[in-house]
Amino acid sequence: MYEHDHSEHKAKEYHEKGVVPFWPEHLLKEMVVGLTAVAALFVFSIFVHPSLGHIADPADWAYVPAPDWYFYWVQNFFDVSGYYWSELGLTKYDWVLMFLIPVLLILALYLVPFYDRSRERRLLKRPVAFGLMLFGLTFLGYFTANGIYNHDYLVAQEPITIFQQSCASCHSIQGLGGNAKGVVAVSPGHFVYPPDLTHVGSILSPAQIRQQLVNPVGGMPNLHLPPAAVDYMVNYLSSLK
Ligand code: HEC
Repeated sequence: MYEHDHSEHKAKEYHEKGVVPFWPEHLLKEMVVGLTAVAALFVFSIFVHPSLGHIADPADWAYVPAPDWYFYWVQNFFDVSGYYWSELGLTKYDWVLMFLIPVLLILALYLVPFYDRSRERRLLKRPVAFGLMLFGLTFLGYFTANGIYNHDYLVAQEPITIFQQSCASCHSIQGLGGNAKGVVAVSPGHFVYPPDLTHVGSILSPAQIRQQLVNPVGGMPNLHLPPAAVDYMVNYLSSLK
C-alpha cells in the first residue's frame, strides 16, 4: 500500500516537473525496441542465407584479401594516404600513419565527455562538434565510394588482365594483343600504329607512362582507368625493360 502511494506520489511529482522517469518509461521502451530488433533479425536469419564467400585456402597465393563493403573506407583510406605517405618519403614511419594517428583519434573520442562539457544540444549552436560530424560523414562516404569504385580492380585484376581488357585491342606485349592491327586515326588521313609495349619500361619513365595513361596524346583514347588501376599499369609497364 505504501509502495503504491509512494510511486503514485512520485509520478505526480515527475509530471509536475515535466520529467520522464527512467524506469519504466524509458527503459521499457528501449527493451521493446531492442527485443523487436532481435526478433526481426531472428526471422530474417531463417529466410535469408547470405553467401559466406570462398572457403579459406592457405595455398591460394592469388587470393587478394578485401574487406566487406562497410570496411572499404578503411582499406581505401590507407591505400590513398599510404600512397602520399610514401611519396613524402615516410615509409619508415608507417606505424605513425597506421597505428599512432588512429589510436590518438580514438582516444580523443573517448575523452570527449571530459573536454566537451557544453550542455547545448542544438546543432547550430555547436559549430565545432557539428562540423566534425559532417566531416566524419563526408570522410566515410568519400572513402567508401572510392573503395567501391576501385574494388574490382583491387580484388580481381592483375595488370595483364587490365592490359587484355583495355589495351590489347591496340598494343601488344611480347606478341600478346595488338589484334586490331591498331591503326588509329589521329586526324583525317593521318594514322599511327600504337607502339609495341614489350620494352616500354626502358623507353619511357614511370612518370611519362602515367602521363600517357592519364592524359593520352597521339590518338590514344583516355580509358579513364580508376586510380588504382593506373598505379598497377604504371608499375607493370615500367618493369617491361
Ligand atoms: C585505341 C587504341 C589504343 C588503346 C585502346 C590504348 N592505346 Fe596506348 N597508345 C595508342 C597510340 C596510337 C599510341 C601512340 C601515341 C603516339 O604515338 O604519340 C599509344 C601510346 C601509348 C604509350 C606510349 C608508348 C611509347 O612508346 O611512346 C603507352 C605507355 C600506352 N599507349 C599505354 C596504353 C595502355 C596501358 C593502354 C590500356 C590501359 C592503352 N595504351 C590503350 C593507342 C591505344
